[in-house]
Amino acid sequence: FTVDWDASAAVKGGFDSFMDKEIHDQPKAVADTLLGRTDASGDLMLDELRIPETVLRSIDKIIVIACGTAAYSGHVAKYAIEHWCRIPVEVELAHEFRYRDPILTPRTLVVAISQSGETMDTLMAVRHAREQGAYVLAIVNTHGSTIPRESDAVLYTHAGPEVAVASTKAFLAQITACYLLGLYLAQLRGTKFADEIQETLQELQALPDKIQSVLDDEAAVREVAQAMKDEPSFLFLGRHVGYPVALEGALKLKEIAYIHAEGFAAGELKHGPIALIDTGQPVFVIAPSPRGRDQLHSKVVSNIQEVRARGARTLVIAEEGDEAVVPYADILFRVPQTPTLLSPLVAVVPLQIFASELAKAKGLDVDQPRNLAKSVTVE
Ligand code: G6P
Repeated sequence: FTVDWDASAAVKGGFDSFMDKEIHDQPKAVADTLLGRTDASGDLMLDELRIPETVLRSIDKIIVIACGTAAYSGHVAKYAIEHWCRIPVEVELAHEFRYRDPILTPRTLVVAISQSGETMDTLMAVRHAREQGAYVLAIVNTHGSTIPRESDAVLYTHAGPEVAVASTKAFLAQITACYLLGLYLAQLRGTKFADEIQETLQELQALPDKIQSVLDDEAAVREVAQAMKDEPSFLFLGRHVGYPVALEGALKLKEIAYIHAEGFAAGELKHGPIALIDTGQPVFVIAPSPRGRDQLHSKVVSNIQEVRARGARTLVIAEEGDEAVVPYADILFRVPQTPTLLSPLVAVVPLQIFASELAKAKGLDVDQPRNLAKSVTVE
């Protein structure tokens, strides 16, 4: 009696690729990143930061530096941190930050986000910031890596090892860690009432189950991806926190399916990108919650109508119960109802699944795309 045993299949836990496994690890990555970061009374406790409270209270600007997917997690965090803490947040690609003359003071908190903790561009930007007297906090997944060693403080994401070159679970864990940082600062600085912070924390705790429910519906996404494997280009539109989600959805398709894909802020459509819309052009749209703020939802619904009127095929990610998008969505992917600021954690999941399935349908190596490295340790 012999058993065929393949070590690599075993570590993929029965999935076709590491990326698929890691997409499925996401509920746990978020749950583990939240774990142990509140005290018995439910208050946030981030003593591990080891940044004196006086410093955290005096911060008047946050600059996030990162590359690739990690930079998009910072872009998501900007909306939440500014809203909760009333501190201006800039997000900058590390390699751009490094070669300009940024205005940094001891009251600037620089947040360096990196899965590997080894990205050379991010590391050089960390050094650049510290030389100029800024306080640097690293949000990193890999223990003992260089970026946290060279930073003033570290907040680890607990996504577990990420093997696939295209980042998935680290992205969700990075956003989660940024939310914790934002809520902690709000708690310290009193910019949000304690019960509001508790409520948001509870919403965060509910996210692993919501992400799981998106994963439970993955077959529908995979079926659409297979049918679209020969499309030459995809556009992605989003507003507010949906904008970085659109950028990340496009990046996933470029990285692993080698398809031209671009993400835009939906409001920018009329300033140029709408000229790209031609009959049959697939356009993903990330619809915000209809229960959310201002006119956000109705504006996005108008954007879906606009591109569809020009012949686009619309693939809409929308909350359960959002009926307004139904008439304009050629294909609709549902995600559970989630407060706007936290919604990227569910909205990005169908986009990851879509990219993975499409790359597989094209016969590509999902985990090791051409020309890319998991960790870029050269400048
Ligand atoms: C590489 C990877 C990306 C990743 C980026 C930043 O380009 O291919 O998936 O987002 O580096 O990596 P880091 O380890 O710093 O998060």
